[in-house]
Amino acid sequence: MDTERSRGYKYERLVIMDSNEPIPSETNICKNCCNSVITNTSAKYGQWMLNIIFCSFLFTLFTYKSFKNSIGFHNNLSEMQINLTLKGVALSRFDSNETNDDLKYFLNTSQCFIPYIDPLMPEIRKLYKPHFTTDCSKHKTLVNVVFDNNAKQYILRMNMTAVQQIYTDNNLTMQRDPMQCCYQEIVRLESGSNPDSKISLLACTYFRQDYMVPPHIDSLLVVCKLKLDHKTITQKNAFFLVQVKNRTRYDFNATAQRKPSLILWGIDSVSRINFRRTMPQTFNYLKQRKWFELRGYNKIGDNTFPNLMALLTGQNQTAAMTTCKPKKIGGLDDCKLIWKEFHKQGYHTAYGEDMPSMSTFNYLKKGFREAPTNYYFRPMSLAIEEHLTSNKKAGLKYCVGNRQYGEYVYDMALQFVTRFQYEPNFGLFWTNSFSHNDYSVPATMDSTILKYLKEMETLGIFDNTIVFFLSDHGMRFGQLLRLPGGFLEERLPTFFISIPKWLRNTYPELIKNLETNCQRLASPYDIYMTMQHLLKINEPNYDIEAATGCTRCQSLFREVPENRTCPDAGISENWCTCTQYKILSSNRKEIKRLSSLIVKGMNDYIINKNLSSVCSELTLHNIKEAKQHYNDEDFTLSTYRIEFSVNPKTKPEAIFAATVKCDPSSHEITLNLNVEEDVNRYTKYENTAKCIQDKEAKKYCICKK
Ligand SMILES: *[C@@H]1O[C@H](CO)[C@@H](O)[C@H](O)[C@H]1NC(C)=O
Ligand SMILES: *[C@@H]1O[C@H](CO)[C@@H](O)[C@H](O)[C@H]1NC(C)=O
Ligand SMILES: *[C@@H]1O[C@H](CO)[C@@H](O)[C@H](O)[C@H]1NC(C)=O
Ligand SMILES: *[C@@H]1O[C@H](CO)[C@@H](O)[C@H](O)[C@H]1NC(C)=O
Ligand SMILES: *[C@@H]1O[C@H](CO)[C@@H](O)[C@H](O)[C@H]1NC(C)=O
Ligand SMILES: *[C@@H]1O[C@H](CO)[C@@H](O)[C@H](O)[C@H]1NC(C)=O
Ligand SMILES: *[C@@H]1O[C@H](CO)[C@@H](O)[C@H](O)[C@H]1NC(C)=O
Ligand SMILES: *[C@@H]1O[C@H](CO)[C@@H](O)[C@H](O)[C@H]1NC(C)=O
Ligand SMILES: *[C@@H]1O[C@H](CO)[C@@H](O)[C@H](O)[C@H]1NC(C)=O
Ligand SMILES: *[C@@H]1O[C@H](CO)[C@@H](O)[C@H](O)[C@H]1NC(C)=O
Ligand SMILES: *[C@@H]1O[C@H](CO)[C@@H](O)[C@H](O)[C@H]1NC(C)=O
Repeated sequence: MDTERSRGYKYERLVIMDSNEPIPSETNICKNCCNSVITNTSAKYGQWMLNIIFCSFLFTLFTYKSFKNSIGFHNNLSEMQINLTLKGVALSRFDSNETNDDLKYFLNTSQCFIPYIDPLMPEIRKLYKPHFTTDCSKHKTLVNVVFDNNAKQYILRMNMTAVQQIYTDNNLTMQRDPMQCCYQEIVRLESGSNPDSKISLLACTYFRQDYMVPPHIDSLLVVCKLKLDHKTITQKNAFFLVQVKNRTRYDFNATAQRKPSLILWGIDSVSRINFRRTMPQTFNYLKQRKWFELRGYNKIGDNTFPNLMALLTGQNQTAAMTTCKPKKIGGLDDCKLIWKEFHKQGYHTAYGEDMPSMSTFNYLKKGFREAPTNYYFRPMSLAIEEHLTSNKKAGLKYCVGNRQYGEYVYDMALQFVTRFQYEPNFGLFWTNSFSHNDYSVPATMDSTILKYLKEMETLGIFDNTIVFFLSDHGMRFGQLLRLPGGFLEERLPTFFISIPKWLRNTYPELIKNLETNCQRLASPYDIYMTMQHLLKINEPNYDIEAATGCTRCQSLFREVPENRTCPDAGISENWCTCTQYKILSSNRKEIKRLSSLIVKGMNDYIINKNLSSVCSELTLHNIKEAKQHYNDEDFTLSTYRIEFSVNPKTKPEAIFAATVKCDPSSHEITLNLNVEEDVNRYTKYENTAKCIQDKEAKKYCICKK
């Protein structure tokens, strides 16, 4: 996008508009434009632009007043304070008395206004039917893993109370040795064309009560058979053990060199609005514990990969694809992911993510040849998907064995931070299974996540560890996006930060800056800079590498300029939430023209990629919504956002949203069909784009049958 041009913009602070609100008068915008001709289609590597000539293009001024009347964001305190009573549990109210939560906006700076969205606005309440339990543990777990603090070893312990109970419930007398259990070590094979997805289970080794697990085993599957008179119960469980192999000598109490540990606790696809909506208990906990919330944190790319790569490497998606080569075996192994830097500086590292088929580094990518961190969850994840029984929710594996999938990741996290509580550690723990496909499912994990947070607090983990509690983006498809606030839902991921007390006391200036920056526009590139800064926190004249994807991005321990704009933070127009739009009638002639041209651009993109033999030619079906960027000072360039559906018909209906710029002075619009850029598909395309592998093109492809 044209960053130079938009840098100087002063965006009028408007709130987003409700589509039910009256449509502003149509007489004054761009009436005669779009007798357009496509003149030039060019496709360069990683760049695909469509230039369209416009003839006359007339603008008249749109006054702020004409919109003030149609302010439509939902911000009603009494609405916020409703009680949701489910399963007899009265949910805590949203606390309206929080500092910095005046409920009028998320962010209000001179260059950026992000309105607050009521998470329980009436439109949502009609749809939102949350369920607040996982219902995964229908059976008692018959065997557990316990860490023996004296022996510094993990032991396997059968729960004979639970076994006894089964006998009692069945009116049977318990026999001697009624339960036989064996364990299988899960090993990573690191071979073949898919080294990150090949595992094997070693032979099942029978064990007795309080068996000490050999210290080289870090993930295992346990199979127990319980003999009753007329049947045998078989139960399988899996455990991740954080075996301490090499204890680094570390004088934790020497403050001068003391290094904080860092945990990234990520839940996929949870906006700060949806976090408030679906996880009120966890939200209130973080608020009460005064975790810092980055209220101006804005995503920079469409899905997980670009946003996490920006955060972990400082690169934009194009650069990450080029330098890290995720589609090549071993490509990601050579990638400069930030945890390698932590490792070099003596940190123990861990990475755990559920759902191996859609995980960050593996979805249409090759993952890692060698385990990327000291502790790596993926082999276990592959094993439990294959060997434990599971059910699905919203199309994703949800309960696995006796627990919610994400709990295995959280158990690993808990083991990791506990084993290394007094040594520097870095962990990335990410879950997809309870949040990726349906915005309401996170509610089922609210109390579970709160339980883990409280356990860590009790153990004193937060006294030594910085925690980033974050997401990558909001929901990217589904009904939420069709509601008022949908534009923000997609773009504003949750981001909370906990800082240990000693760090706050040692570096009061840095913490003051962080506090100020909670009220500033921020992006994943800043987090990359912040993590680098953390590694040098006790060096007064530290030197860190700029994020290549955003050279003006910076550590959040330094004050961010009040007047920061989206381009300053590496956020492209399409993702920028500082910009407010007004709604136009979709019947307008130029909107129809623009939409047809966008569809033409998408078709040309497919043709250019030589995919037109498998992907259908698209035609415009229906324009759902059209908006124009309101900009009070500079009318030489205007941005439109158009949402439309296309034919051929698919299930779900293929809905796209495109951001295009219309420049009357040069008489052209530009449309960038690059992956991370201007066109999003709002509905899942997994099933309709199966005929091609090209991830960038999938978005535009509806397979011919
Ligand atoms: C807020 O909601 C209450 C209850 O639904 C309603 O009576 C009141 O008029 C609303 N206030 C505003 C400012 O919309
Ligand atoms: C909220 O719940 C409390 C207790 O569960 C109840 O006393 C109160 O009347 C409820 N308030 C509303 C507005 O429903
Ligand atoms: C609101 O904040 C004030 C000042 O911090 C405090 O005294 C008061 O108890 C709070 N009220 C509620 C309802 O939490
Ligand atoms: C945003 O900040 C400006 C300047 O401080 C202030 O005048 C304005 O009222 C604020 N907007 C809202 C909605 O509070
Ligand atoms: C063992 O099982 C009993 C009965 O189900 C349960 O109350 C107890 O918490 C279990 N113990 C452990 C350590 O899980
Ligand atoms: C066990 O015995 C009790 C009393 O004799 C009876 O009520 C119950 O149904 C029996 N349970 C089973 C599982 O057979
Ligand atoms: C453990 O430490 C020894 C000696 O410091 C070293 O040679 C060995 O490679 C280390 N092992 C691991 C797994 O890091
Ligand atoms: C560090 O200090 C705390 C309290 O000041 C003490 O309890 C702890 O044992 C010390 N740890 C080490 C490794 O010296
Ligand atoms: C991505 O970053 C590179 C520098 O690493 C830059 O040259 C390129 O223009 C950026 N691409 C986009 C789409 O912003
Ligand atoms: C932001 O403020 C700085 C210094 O006050 C100024 O140099 C810069 O031009 C301003 N940027 C914008 C976009 O207003
Ligand atoms: C498309 O096919 C043509 C002719 O077979 C070939 O020259 C061109 O390189 C192909 N383009 C792509 C992007 O594969």
